[in-house]
Parts: sequence; C-alpha cells; structure tokens
Amino acid sequence: MAGGVAGESPVPLRVGLLGLGVVGSGLVQLLRCNREEVARRLGAPIEIRRVLVRSLDKPRPVPVPRELLTTDPGRVLQDPEIDVIVEVMGGVEPARELILAALAQGRPVVTANKEVLARHGPELFRAAAAHGAGLYFEASVAAGIPVIRSLVQGLAANKVRTLMGIINGTTNYILTRMIEEGAEFAVALEQAQRAGYAEADPTSDVDGWDAAYKLAILSSLAFETYVPVESVYVEGIRRVTPVDLAYGTELGFTVKLLAIAKNVNGAIEARVHPTMVPLHHPLAAVRDVFNAVYLNGNASGELMLYGRGAGSLPTASAVASDLMEAADDLRRGQTPLLIRRRPGEWARKEVLPITETRTRFYLRFLVHDQPGVLAAIAAAFGKTGVSIESVIQKGRGRSPVDLVFVTHEAKEANVREALREIGQLPVVHQVASVIRVEDGSSQEEMGPAGSTEEARCE
Ligand code: NAP
Ligand code: HSE
Repeated sequence: MAGGVAGESPVPLRVGLLGLGVVGSGLVQLLRCNREEVARRLGAPIEIRRVLVRSLDKPRPVPVPRELLTTDPGRVLQDPEIDVIVEVMGGVEPARELILAALAQGRPVVTANKEVLARHGPELFRAAAAHGAGLYFEASVAAGIPVIRSLVQGLAANKVRTLMGIINGTTNYILTRMIEEGAEFAVALEQAQRAGYAEADPTSDVDGWDAAYKLAILSSLAFETYVPVESVYVEGIRRVTPVDLAYGTELGFTVKLLAIAKNVNGAIEARVHPTMVPLHHPLAAVRDVFNAVYLNGNASGELMLYGRGAGSLPTASAVASDLMEAADDLRRGQTPLLIRRRPGEWARKEVLPITETRTRFYLRFLVHDQPGVLAAIAAAFGKTGVSIESVIQKGRGRSPVDLVFVTHEAKEANVREALREIGQLPVVHQVASVIRVEDGSSQEEMGPAGSTEEARCE
C-alpha cells in the first residue's frame, strides 16, 4: 500500500481475510457502513480482496461476492496484491501456521485469536520481529475495549501493579442473572444460550478458559514477560450458588468471575476465579455481558476501561483499528511499537502458584448447631494463622446450619490447611463454599490502602 500522489486516487489497503464468521462478517459490515470515515482518517480506503472460508455455500449475514471466497489458504497467502492478513478463524491450527506463513513473507497480520496468542505468543512475536512484520491483536481481549493499546501505548510509562478484569461476557451475564433473579447456575446458563451469548458447548466460558487466555495476554504485556496460560490458576463459575450470592450481598459484596494479575515483588500472580468484590468497587457495577478492565499503574493510579467484550461489530471495531494502524506502519515502513520492544525475548518471570497468593476468603460451612462449633473452627484457623474478620450464622434450630466466615488477608496454603482440618471436625457436615475476596490491593506493592491508593513513584 502506498500513500498516493497528490491528485491521484489513494491506493487502497488490500486485505486477505481468513474467516467470515461472527467477526469476519462484522468487519465486512463495518468497512461498508463506516467506509468514508475510515478512508478519510486513513487517507486510503480498505478493500477486502480475498476471503478464506470452510464452506463456499453457507449463507452469510453480509453479502460478499462469491468470487472473493476461497477454501484454499494458498489463494490468500500467495496473492501478491494483498497487503495485510486478518486472521479471524479461531482455534490454534491452522491459524498459527497461517499467521507464521504470512509473517515469514513480511506481511502484517491482524488477529482476534486469544487462544493462539496465549499458547504461542513468543513464537509469533519472534517471527514478527525476525521478518520486520507487524502483529496486531487488539480484538483478542475484550473486543471493543481498546485495552491492548492502552497497555502498550497509553500506560507505557507506568509500572502496572494490579490488573483485574471482567473479560468474559457470558459468565458475567450468567452471574448477573443469578444475583438479580436468584436463578440457579443451570437456569442462567440456559438464558445465556437463548440470548445467543453462550455457545452450545459453554465449557471455555463457564470453566474460565476464555478468561485465562485473555489474562495470559494482558499479564504478559503488563509485566513484560510471558505468562503461559498453563501457569494461570483457573476456576470457573459452575459451583457458585444463589445461597452464596445472597450471603455476599448481605456482606456488601457482589460476585464476579475476575481475571486477576498482580506484580508481587517481581513475581506474578495470575488467576481466574469467582471473586467477591466490594459493592463500592468500580468492577461491581459491571453487569450483564459487559466487560471491564481495572488497572492500577504507579503513575496513572486507578483506571477502568468498560464496554462490550464480544459481538460482531464491537470486535470488528478493534480489528479495523488494527488494520488502520497496520496501514500507517506500512506507509511509514516501520514495525509496530510493541514488536520493536521484542516481546518474544522478554525474560520469564516467576508465576506464583495459587497456594502462595494472599487474599481474603469467604467461607461457608454446613455445621451441626451445637455449642463449641464456632470455637473448634476458630481454633483451626488460629493454628494456621488465619485471622477472622466476620461471622454470620443463620437458621438456628435446624441442622445442619450455615456458618459463614470472612477472613482477613491470608496465604492460600494456610487457608487450605485450616480447611482440611475443619472438614474433618465431627461437628462440621460440609465445607460448602470457598470464594476469594478482592478489592484490587496488593500489600507488597501498594501498601495496605487498597483501591483508594494514590499514584506513587519511587
Ligand atoms: P466463527 O463465527 O466460528 O467464524 C470462524 C470463521 O472461520 C468461519 O467463517 C469459518 O468458515 C472460518 N474457518 C474456521 N476454520 C477454518 C478453516 N480451517 N479453513 C477455512 N476457514 C475456516 O468465529 P468468530 O466468532 O468470528 O471468532 C473468530 C475469532 O475471533 C476467534 O479467534 C475468536 O476467539 C475471536 N473473537 C471472537 C469474538 C466474538 O464475539 N465472536 C470476540 C473477540 C474475539 P465457515 O464460515 O465456512 O465455517
Ligand atoms: N465468549 C467470549 C465471552 C467472547 O463470552 O466474552 C469472545 O471472546
């Protein structure tokens, strides 16, 4: 693509599109409806030259000339008239191979594929750097929310201390229905499927893997390292019950599937799990399918990005903005800022096992309602140094009854040890629920003030 000479019509940016599903169709639609704005701001139009699909006969939500469609990846990758490849096929293979093939030709690639980035990020970044090609992936996390650009550019001068995100819309929708309507998990999941948010196979969303891929990407960028997705602690929302959500509300919390990453004295915490969040925290107000990423930089202080983390047009918005950046980089003959920082070579930092992390805990036990129960449980906590913040007992006279504790911040290994002992007490019928509580603070890095901490530069 060239900038064009004065008086001549500008040369379009020519795109090879791999995939014409939800995101690919959204891109086609967006480039049509905002054609003028994109062309004016970029100085040239964007034109789709070839589209790879699996089926040539499938009905498409947007009309695409039949002659543009192909089932042969070679017809896209070997076309010398294509400037940029957009990969919106999903999955690891053949997406990884096709991205590598395009980069090896020095061609920029825009991708929305969180899984391939989370699993093969360093390999892809090294290939991009080796061939001086751009790799752009704004759409891979939180779709319409420009969180990658914020981390790479907007917060470039910060040390990020904490990052907490609601980065899976399906689970946020399910938890919102459970909290606001008292629905059981299975009922809320069915509602999410009917609304078209959850897939027929909702495993990746409800078991936390979708959020884990995205957290692996965000935490790698925030802490300039490679956080393999296998090192992220992952727990989904299947075991969250309306009972715990109701206790949470009573205690001043809501429950979110949070993706949390922290820098704890140079080591990284990276975990995805249901989390009790104080109702006053900005993330508590994020309902339904909306996503948000809360960040705390040492200079910026707290900030939160909020918006639609999925869907055809919101995701296409991120893909199109990457295309415009790629066009600009091509025109200037430069590799993008992030690739120049050599993310493929970033040193590995230790990712702490979950047992080494520190949080507060919400714990619900089913106990026999008799004298001495509280003392026995408190003694087990005392032995492992877990301090109790509050206790609720409900349902006097029935057996078993709920006994709910919120602890002060404690090391997870110590809480697990106490729970093992408590689970064996004859007066304890069941350890019914264990939910971590977060307000975004990280004692080692931020001091105890938590989310109201001011910016600090030392
Ligand atoms: P999708 O609706 O399933 O579309 C995938 C497209 O790729 C289809 O057009 C399919 O062709 C084509 N395709 C897949 N494998 C192929 C192969 N081996 N050869 C040729 N064509 C192939 O997926 P999507 O929802 O658009 O998602 C695409 C990517 O964007 C994924 O990485 C996803 O994680 C990411 N993303 C999606 C969203 C969202 O809201 N959907 C949001 C953010 C990121 P056919 O149409 O012929 O089957
Ligand atoms: N399935 C994801 C979600 C959208 O529910 O947020 C794609 O990343």
